[in-house]
Amino acid sequence: MAKKVLITRVIPSIAYELLTQAGFEVTVWEGSPMTQSQLIEGARSVNALLSLGSNKLDKHFFNECSHLDVIAQFAVGFDNIDVKEATTKGIPVSNTPSVLNEATADVAFGLMIAVSRKMFYLHKTIERGEWKQFEPLKNLGVQLTGKTLGIFGMGRIGMVMAQRCQGAYNMNVIYHNRTRNEEAERKLGCTYVTFDELLKQSDVLSVHSVLSEETQGIFNKSAFSKMKPSAIFINTSRGGVHHEGDLIEALNTGAIWGAGLDVTNPEPMHADNPLLSMTNAAVLPHIGSATIEARTGMARVAAENIIEFYKSGKMLTCINPSALKK
Ligand code: DGY
Repeated sequence: MAKKVLITRVIPSIAYELLTQAGFEVTVWEGSPMTQSQLIEGARSVNALLSLGSNKLDKHFFNECSHLDVIAQFAVGFDNIDVKEATTKGIPVSNTPSVLNEATADVAFGLMIAVSRKMFYLHKTIERGEWKQFEPLKNLGVQLTGKTLGIFGMGRIGMVMAQRCQGAYNMNVIYHNRTRNEEAERKLGCTYVTFDELLKQSDVLSVHSVLSEETQGIFNKSAFSKMKPSAIFINTSRGGVHHEGDLIEALNTGAIWGAGLDVTNPEPMHADNPLLSMTNAAVLPHIGSATIEARTGMARVAAENIIEFYKSGKMLTCINPSALKK
């Protein structure tokens, strides 16, 4: 009998095509995002789940759906999944690394330039009819050439961001990570520093880490107070890594120069959030992976993970390989 797969949202059709061609019976949830009870109800009648970052796969979910053979997430991040619980239940989980590196680094790079020249805010001043004449001493930004880029979380996306900044602005790149990234050091000449040194030395500090107990709220009042008053803070990973109230205060008091965010906490951000009207902030609605190429790649990798699991018992990008052995 054909194995059943539930795709929890409409995603690029390649996922559906690959799975149906491989003989799976595929259901795509076409409505607005599933509620928790719809998710559990839907998952109950299938063998495999193709999930999104917005689905909450917590302990309760795994207790209700312990029958699942496999879960393929359509995202590189998986902080929405209780991976420990999935492993306990023997359910392998995969994500979609690599295919979105370029797209996400582009958004970090774009936000860095936008903040350095206050582009989002200045665009709004034109809309409000406030552009009256050339201003020799107003609207001044800062240049990026030769500055120091600090990467928090030097993984694949961080490395692409480092390359972009070296190529475009000859930036000196330092980083802080849980473990040393030898490739970044050897190939790109990046220098490992402590977290405190990263805060102190960076002219631009770009966050590319996962959200975990360790990184939750790590960019808080104390961290911002150690940064240069001329520093730009960029976050394209997860909104939970920075403390929003502390960031707003740091921007208001001039503890840092500016901030560019593609991720917020909560998401979506409320339209009346003060960050949206500040001169020195730029916010985007979590579009890091939103290119045709990246999203198509993510759909392909997610589908291939399910296909490979049923074919060989392995997955291309499993995040809890010990569950594969169970
Ligand atoms: C990811 O892949 O983790 C992106 O943030 C989209 O969810």
